[in-house]
Amino acid sequence: MRRKLFAANWKMNLTPSEGRSLLAALRAHLDPDAATLARDREVLVAPAFLAIPAAAQALAGSAIALGAQNMHFEAKGAFTGEVSAAMLRYFGVSHVIVGHSERRHLFGESDESVGRRAAAVAAARMTPIVCVGETAAQHDAGHTLEVVLRQLQHGLALIAPEQATTAVIAYEPVWAIGTGRTATPEQAQSVHGAIRSVLDDRFGNPVAAAIRILYGGSVTEENVDSLMAKPDIDGALVGGASLKADSFARIVRAKLQQG
Ligand code: PGA
Repeated sequence: MRRKLFAANWKMNLTPSEGRSLLAALRAHLDPDAATLARDREVLVAPAFLAIPAAAQALAGSAIALGAQNMHFEAKGAFTGEVSAAMLRYFGVSHVIVGHSERRHLFGESDESVGRRAAAVAAARMTPIVCVGETAAQHDAGHTLEVVLRQLQHGLALIAPEQATTAVIAYEPVWAIGTGRTATPEQAQSVHGAIRSVLDDRFGNPVAAAIRILYGGSVTEENVDSLMAKPDIDGALVGGASLKADSFARIVRAKLQQG
């Protein structure tokens, strides 16, 4: 079965020293049970770029993986403000979020750019976490699946089946991000199920069944258990609630139906 993945997206929060303190507190919560938790779940934190070196040190010897919030698709060159795969790998980054809705909507990243970023992450042998999700207006107009599945096709366009097994998708309805308004477990499951069936068409069954599909958007310690009870919800991408060690630790300890 798929191990659940609980990923913290710190966004533009926490300096290196604040990040170090948060990780020390998180480890105090999780390290004692690391072996038990590792049976059916993985934990990941994605700090801002400048906090990654301090986070790498703070995570030494822990089971918590290190992620980044974005990455450019070119190996190097004149791309002011961007960061490459080699720079992230240097610090032991294993997962990279691409196509987060804030990148798409605030910074103009296109479907095509997200697809190139995802492919570059996979080519560098890291795990891309490809984010998809509709805006409130698209949701209200009944265009959720059309938008999400289009973003999914572009996001995975350059990913080969042998790379896809380890890829991660994150469904994050834009109207649920940072708003306190979560999709219901039923709403999320219906989108996750549609994503799974597109993955099945594209990559075939064993691969599609291995791909984790995370839910993101106002995940909290209160709602995580009911979300994780759904068959195609394989973890969570957590923003606000990941900035407090006890909240995120509780989310990581979500009740799971199966091991
Ligand atoms: P939120 O953010 O948990 O604060 O809603 C989630 C995300 O944007 O990944």
